[in-house]
This record gives sequence, C-alpha cells and structure tokens, in this order.
Amino acid sequence: MSRFSVRNLDVTIDGHPLLRNVNLEVASGEFCVITGPSGSGKTTFIRLLLSQLRPSQGEIAIDGTPIPRFPAPDRGVVFQDYSVFPHKTALQNVLVGLEFKKARVFGRLFGRRRQPLISAARRALADVGLESSVEKYPSQLSGGMRQRLAIAQAMIVRPKVLLLDEPFGALDPDTRAQLHRVVLKLWRESQATIIMVTHDLQEARALATRLVTFGFAKGGGGTIVADEIVGEKGSVVTPFAETRTGRSPRHRRRKHR
Ligand SMILES: Nc1ncnc2c1ncn2[C@@H]1O[C@H](COP(=O)(O)OP(=O)(O)OP(=O)(O)O)[C@@H](O)[C@H]1O
Ligand SMILES: [Mg+2]
Repeated sequence: MSRFSVRNLDVTIDGHPLLRNVNLEVASGEFCVITGPSGSGKTTFIRLLLSQLRPSQGEIAIDGTPIPRFPAPDRGVVFQDYSVFPHKTALQNVLVGLEFKKARVFGRLFGRRRQPLISAARRALADVGLESSVEKYPSQLSGGMRQRLAIAQAMIVRPKVLLLDEPFGALDPDTRAQLHRVVLKLWRESQATIIMVTHDLQEARALATRLVTFGFAKGGGGTIVADEIVGEKGSVVTPFAETRTGRSPRHRRRKHR
C-alpha cells in the first residue's frame, strides 16, 4: 500500500512543453485510471512515475519520500506491447524480476536457493491463470496470455505501485473482461496502488475508484483537466476536489468487493 504524490510537475523537452503543472495525490490502495486524448502526455506521465524520465520541475514522492532517480522494483509496469522476453519461457520471464531483486541482496542464486523462487514464480503464474503454460515461450501464447504473463512478471516483486499503460488496448472484449478480473483480484489481494492508462471510457469506469482526465494546457503541453471519484456502477460520484470521501478507504474497497 502506498501513497503517490505529484506536485507542480513540468516537463519540457527541446523547448516544447510535454506536461504542465500536473498535481495529483493518489491515496494508498487506490485504483486510479487515467484517460485523455492522444498526445496529452499520459505515457510521459507514466514514464516519469517510473523514473524513465526526469521532470524539468516539480516532485514525485511515494509515501512522502522522493522516488529514486532510476527505475526500481517498488514500481512495476505493464505496457501495451507485451514487455516480456521472447527468448525466455513464461517461468523464466517471471523469474527474471525476482532473481534480479534477490540477487542484489544475495549475489547470483544457484541450486537449492533458487527453489523457493521457482515456487513463487509458479504461484504468480497460477494467480494469472497460466499454470499450464509455464514452459511455453511468448510466441506460443495468445495476446491475452502474454499480457497476463507481463502482469505476473510485474507483480512477482510485490511493487508498491503498479503502472499499466493501455495494457489491454490490443485485446478483444472477452479477453479484456477476463484480464479485468485478473487485475482486480491482484489489486484486492496485494493492496497495491494501481495507476492505469486507457482510452476505453467504459473500462475506465468499470475499474476505477478514481478517474483522472488529461487534456491540453493553454500554450501547449498536457495537464489534468478533471479528477473524479467513481462509484460502484461506474457513475461519477463527485469531482475529487470537492469531497473528502474520496480519501476514505471504505469507498475504494466497497466498489470492488
Ligand atoms: N522523448 C520525447 N521527446 C520529445 N517529445 C516527446 C517525447 N516523448 C513524448 N513526446 C511528445 O509528448 C507528447 C505526449 O506524448 P505521450 O506519448 O505522453 O502521449 P499520450 O497521451 O500517451 O498519447 P497516446 O494516447 O497516443 O498514447 C506528444 O506530443 C509526443 O510527441
Ligand atoms: Mg500513450
């Protein structure tokens, strides 16, 4: 569970504003969905949260501490384009993240010390319904299965925050609905804070406890133009700024009980 805080964020590259004056407080355990037109800076925002990009101004903090300058396992990510290694099996793909994290503590792991990691990787694959595909390569999996693998890979290191950038964009409606259930289950069980970008407003309202809309600032660059709490049936309860109830964990957990 972690609180994300973004203050007065500006990104300018080669004199062009990409993001302007972005302010966002995401409460611990929130399922925050970001929508907005193409080019309004949603992916740029995700890259900032990952430390793949540095802001020109402003600050980003998790639980009150500025995020590290480099990507770290406290923030997991799934992009639209199946960010898994093609030459590794499903099991090896999930193990990579875990071994990387543990190896920083123990050095390279061999033999018996690897066994618990393999068991954990198998459990993570079972959590996303891939228990019978552990030895398959990504090219042998469907698009939906590959995205489930990417989600397992991101979740295995127990990130405080899971970032999803149009993770279901290339999938058919049935597969999307299946993956919604997978993500909601992981969200409930892990209590991770989720920030997800989508163009699909129906998907946004179905999943979000909080809906943030990006648009364009005067003079160019993306910025937040709406920030709302989403109720149980996908209705917008109220603009976030006008209520305190959005900060109540009761509302967030009630929606996806
Ligand atoms: N590294 C970069 N250098 C210069 N301009 C960039 C860079 N990355 C993104 N941009 C520009 O920033 C703007 C926002 O891009 P971004 O990818 O964040 O938009 P988006 O909201 O994710 O769009 P989409 O919905 O199409 O994915 C675009 O005009 C893009 O061309
Ligand atoms: Mg994008």
